[in-house]
This record gives sequence, C-alpha cells and structure tokens, in this order.
Amino acid sequence: MRYLGVVLVSLAAVGNAVPFPHQIQPRQNVTTASQRLGLQWLGGNSTLPKILVLYTGGTIAGGSIYGALDNTQYGQLVLTGEQIIARDPYLLNHTQLAVSNWTTEEDGSTGTNDALVMNMTRFAHDALCSKDSDIDGAVFTHGTNSLEETAFLLDLLINCGKPVVAVGAMRPFTHLSFDGDSNFFQGVMLAASLDSRNRGVMVAFNDRIIPGFWVTKLHSTNPNAFGPTATGDLGQFINSLPYFYNTPSTPNAKHAFSLDEVSKDSSFPALPKVDILYAAREFDGQLVLDAQKNGAKGVIIAGTGNGGIPSGGEQIGEALDNGLQLVVGTRSPFGPSTPSRTPVYAKSGFVHVIQARIMLQLAIASGYNMDQTIELFEGALRKSIGQPWSPEN
Ligand SMILES: *[C@@H]1O[C@H](CO)[C@@H](O)[C@H](O)[C@H]1NC(C)=O
Ligand SMILES: *[C@@H]1O[C@H](CO)[C@@H](O)[C@H](O)[C@H]1NC(C)=O
Ligand SMILES: *[C@@H]1O[C@H](CO)[C@@H](O)[C@H](O)[C@H]1NC(C)=O
Ligand SMILES: *[C@@H]1O[C@H](CO)[C@@H](O)[C@H](O)[C@H]1NC(C)=O
Ligand SMILES: *[C@@H]1O[C@H](CO)[C@@H](O)[C@H](O)[C@H]1NC(C)=O
Repeated sequence: MRYLGVVLVSLAAVGNAVPFPHQIQPRQNVTTASQRLGLQWLGGNSTLPKILVLYTGGTIAGGSIYGALDNTQYGQLVLTGEQIIARDPYLLNHTQLAVSNWTTEEDGSTGTNDALVMNMTRFAHDALCSKDSDIDGAVFTHGTNSLEETAFLLDLLINCGKPVVAVGAMRPFTHLSFDGDSNFFQGVMLAASLDSRNRGVMVAFNDRIIPGFWVTKLHSTNPNAFGPTATGDLGQFINSLPYFYNTPSTPNAKHAFSLDEVSKDSSFPALPKVDILYAAREFDGQLVLDAQKNGAKGVIIAGTGNGGIPSGGEQIGEALDNGLQLVVGTRSPFGPSTPSRTPVYAKSGFVHVIQARIMLQLAIASGYNMDQTIELFEGALRKSIGQPWSPEN
C-alpha cells in the first residue's frame, strides 16, 4: 500500500535528473481510468492507495426499526456506500475510496440479477485492468445470501492480479454488535495490501480471509457465516491487518474466462439460463425436461453422494439429445462429484453446485459444447486420478 508513494518519488527524481529536451513534445491527453469513469475519490491524500468500492447494498447497508436485537427483520433503513465509509474514521487515513453504485431499484443485492452483476463485472474489469488504470484494488459490499455467487463470477472473469475483495455483514448496522464496520475496514485493508496480488477474489469476513473460488455460506445467521468447501482459509486479520498463511496459488479447477468471449453471443443479453435441481429419492426427470422447455440451456443437479441421480435417466437422456448441457454436483457440503468412466454429461468435481451454475453459464456463453464442458469440469481431476478422457472412449 506504500508503493504509489514510492513511484511518485522516483518519477520526481527522474524529472530532476534529466535535462529539458530541445523540442518540447506536445503533451498528450493523459486520462486515467478514474477520470474516464467519473470516479470521485474520497480522502484527498493522493499518496494513499485507491480502492474502488462497488456497492450493491446487503445487510452491511441495512438497518432495523425493530431495535438493537433484531437480526432477521431489518431492511427499513439503508446506508449508502458513502455513509458506510463515513462511519469509520480510520479508513481514509489508509486509503482513498470511490463508490460505484450497483444496487437494484428496490432491494439492493437481494434482487441482483445476472445482467446487473455482469455489468458490474465489466465496470470493475475496466477500472482495474485497463492500461490507464490508476486503481489499486476493489472491494464489493454484498448481501450475504448470494455473496458467493458474485465472488465466484468475478474470480473467473477478473484476473489481472489486482485484489478484489467481497465484504458483507450478518447483522444490521442498528444491531448492538454490528459486524459490518470491521468486515468493511478489513476488506479495504486487504484490497490495499500488495501481499494480496495474484490471489484471485477473496472474502473478508469475521477476521477470516477466505478464497472466493471456494467460499460458501455455511450458516444462515451466525456472524462466522462463511468458509471454504475445499482447502482452508488463506489467512486472517490481526490488528485488522491481513496475514497470509501461504504464498499465492490458483485452484486447479479454476478456468479464467475472457469477458469478451463471454459477451460475444448476443442471443444471451446477460448470461444463458442455467437452473439448479436438487436430487432426492424419487427424483423426477421431467423437471429436467421442463427446465429446458422453460428456456434453460443448462441444468445443474445437486446429486446424491459423489454425484448420483436416483432416477429419471430416460428424461435426462432426452434433454441431452435435445442439446441441454448437464453438470452433476453433490448435495453433500464437502467432497467431489467424481468423473464417470464414459461421460455423457459433466460431473462437477470439487466445484460446488452454486458455483457450477455460474461456470456452466460462462462455458455456454463462450461457445463450449457438452464435450468441452466435460473437459472443463473434469480435466484437472481426471489427470490427477489416472482416468484420462477423450470423446472416443
Ligand atoms: C484533451 O482532453 C480535453 C478534455 O477532456 C478535450 O476537450 C480535448 O479535445 C482533448 N484533446 C485531444 C487532442 O484529444
Ligand atoms: C498522506 O499519507 C502518507 C502515507 O501514509 C502520510 O505519510 C502523510 O502524512 C499523509 N498526509 C496527510 C496530509 O495526512
Ligand atoms: C487521521 O489522520 C489525521 C491527520 O493526520 C489525524 O489527525 C487523525 O488522528 C487520524 N485519525 C485516526 C483515526 O487515526
Ligand atoms: C443507487 O442506484 C439505485 C438504483 O438505481 C438508486 O435508487 C439509488 O438512489 C442510487 N444511490 C446513489 C447513492 O446514487
Ligand atoms: C447493463 O448494461 C447495458 C449496456 O450499458 C444496459 O443496456 C443494461 O440496461 C444494463 N443492465 C442492467 C440490469 O443494469
């Protein structure tokens, strides 16, 4: 977080050392991404790192008219991104912050849809990854119910090394022990840290640093709501500053998609429709056909155990023949859905069903067929467990 200062100092030194050229070149119009995107930086200390705040609302922005004990009926009071920042006197002594608003009209990130989140992703990619970017990292505030979906989407689409951090809260700001202020501060410090580079999207929650690729909401009300479904935490906060246990690494199951590729098929204004079905005894295969009839290009089944489907094989075969793409994950909270010997649809491996939906959306939008989708989900796992797969066998 100190490197901007260092860069400025060294430029000044070069300016002093180099004599004036004979001919002064016409000064080119140098615009920064911040200027282009109309970002208003709060704080005013230009030596501090610039962290973009993508605001989608969520509990971190919500308050209750039912008193300081309520953590289920809130939402009548709402903080803007600027008001969340203004609650904390420490933030602007460490960073410059600019707010970009990505709420839906009525209900903040509860009502977030694929189109809005894709637009936010394009904006964040432009702000962080363009040649003229003067921004060091980003945090996004999000409702916790779908935080993992946005985290995973951003993780697969923004990969220029700059930190993107998800933050939220489990308790409204009117609660006697609001967790949002500390999660927000820690998330901003994480996004501003040079140690955070090349680690993918991260989640700052309850003093934990959790990888965005693996994160899921494990508890519906406890402030320690999030954890990874595979691997462990990346680190933790001590005195509200990030400490990483390990150097950066990338999940084997991760595939970085190109925003241009994903956006090129104009028949999908946002992302292709993919539905999730939950398997149990007497699973009705007609549900898969109905989803397809209703416009789904793909279906994710939360299968039993390591990716079983108890019944409905005939209808599933029919849907596949009609061009539906199918990925089967596991309804178990941990562990993989393992590859079949001769696959006709994909097993999701260690990618959880909620994340598998997004990965399949991006694959279909990028023009993958079923065989390519199988390779996408199963390739790394098959390589490791000695079952190399080709479409012929
Ligand atoms: C330089 O930028 C200014 C302000 O944005 C604009 O009015 C002007 O046309 C630009 N000049 C060139 C040569 O691009
Ligand atoms: C701006 O931030 C730098 C780096 O932390 C600090 O040294 C300096 O005192 C700050 N300037 C002001 C006016 O607060
Ligand atoms: C923030 O910086 C200002 C100016 O350096 C200082 O007066 C103030 O105490 C700092 N605030 C906090 C909370 O550290
Ligand atoms: C953010 O966007 C929403 C939805 O368009 C709008 O209702 C709200 O006023 C905006 N908030 C700010 C602070 O601009
Ligand atoms: C997304 O951006 C496009 C292009 O600017 C715009 O037409 C569309 O209304 C936006 N969608 C949402 C939900 O914000």
